[in-house]
Amino acid sequence: MPVSAEEATEHATDRETSVETSDFRRDVLEGLRAREKAIPCKHLYDERGSQLFDQICEQPEYYPTRTEIAITRDHLGEIVDKIGAQALLIEYGSGTSEKTRLLLAAHPSLAGYVPIDIACLHVQEAAEQIRDEHPELRVEPLCADYTEDFELPDVNGDARRRVAYFPGSTIGNFDPEDAQDFLARIAETVGAGGGLLLGVDLMKDEQTLRAAYNDEAGVTAAFNKNLLRRMKRELDAELSVDDFAHEGRYNPGRGCMEMHLVSQTAQAIVIGDEAFSFPQGETIRTERSHKFTRSGFARLARRAGFRVDAVWTDADDLFSVQYLERAA
Ligand code: AVI
Repeated sequence: MPVSAEEATEHATDRETSVETSDFRRDVLEGLRAREKAIPCKHLYDERGSQLFDQICEQPEYYPTRTEIAITRDHLGEIVDKIGAQALLIEYGSGTSEKTRLLLAAHPSLAGYVPIDIACLHVQEAAEQIRDEHPELRVEPLCADYTEDFELPDVNGDARRRVAYFPGSTIGNFDPEDAQDFLARIAETVGAGGGLLLGVDLMKDEQTLRAAYNDEAGVTAAFNKNLLRRMKRELDAELSVDDFAHEGRYNPGRGCMEMHLVSQTAQAIVIGDEAFSFPQGETIRTERSHKFTRSGFARLARRAGFRVDAVWTDADDLFSVQYLERAA
């Protein structure tokens, strides 16, 4: 049951830790028992993982973040016009995003801002900072897992419409059916006349993609291998981190990049009284990151109840920022 971030803050650390650890244990055990071993990518983002992800965004090979920021800057006026006057802006998976700050600084008349994040303490702190920067803006943080059902705080006030914001191309981390369900739930949340502004990473040559997920400095490798450290720390897993290697590989059948932890030797991971054996070369898939063509994404949006109203891209067509309107 989601609660306001204020209510959640007091006991957030203990509660988050225990809920997240039991979900993590269940998902890791299920994932390691599967024929193709895989662990859901949301578990990459413990505190260290989130720091490493921020560092990935600064790597020269990782084009999405800087390209999305540049597109947003270059088209800020048009984007703000699409959001429209007296809109309630609802951000899915907020954080301390530079992109959101650009929008908030440029929008003259938002009715309110609702950042949603599962990290209760972070969303509360970010909201306080934004209140300091925009004392006139109504900011109502919500502590919830945005991939599950949640109730918005009663913040409509004099809002004329609702616009959801989902930057970063995180939509690419959902499997296609889940992506459609998730977008359909956003369509329901924003309601008639509502919209969705989101980042969508575009399909491109394999070399650029592979470089982005195998950076020279090894930050993506550290991000991926941090999952093994988390398993040791939180699940008392017996495993050797050094006997796994990171690999970002392209999956042409699905049109996505995948992160894998590749076993360098024949070995086992032991958790409690279960042992999971790995021949040399077997992998644990830890993430899929789908890349979209414009028409493919428009089809996905349509099936979820949206119509693509505007698409902004960079000169090299690496990334897009799109504004979707809820179909009538
Ligand atoms: C958060 N998400 C959109 C990133 C992506 O590109 O799929 C996560 C990431 N994984 C490796 N590098 C970045």
